[in-house]
Amino acid sequence: MYSEQVMEHFRNPRNMGVIEDADGVGEVGNPTCGDMMRITIKVEDDRLADVKFQTLGCGAAVATSSMVTEMAKGKTLDEAMQISNKSVAESLGGLPPNKMHCSNLAADGLHAAIEDYRAKQAAKV
Ligand code: FES
Repeated sequence: MYSEQVMEHFRNPRNMGVIEDADGVGEVGNPTCGDMMRITIKVEDDRLADVKFQTLGCGAAVATSSMVTEMAKGKTLDEAMQISNKSVAESLGGLPPNKMHCSNLAADGLHAAIEDYRAKQAAKV
């Protein structure tokens, strides 16, 4: 069964939506089920000033997306790159074994958004 933390984030997802003038965008799909996630980030002084997500997926995917935005906000880009799918699942008190694949979107989406930001910065130089 789902942990209390998973149910809480599913019922009240944090940071859901889109940052219109985002500095970086990450889009990832889950090959296991076809679900999708999009993360937009705002960066100030090499830190994540804002993080928002849109997830087209199951409850566990919504909960992990919500959790990763909370974990990432305020962190430096390098620190945020250290957040793993496993650590997101652990912060939610774990996921049922057959739902572990649902946590794959969360950190991957965040990392993709940071990589997108860094690629845009590099292109400016
Ligand atoms: Fe697709 Fe959970 S079933 S992310």
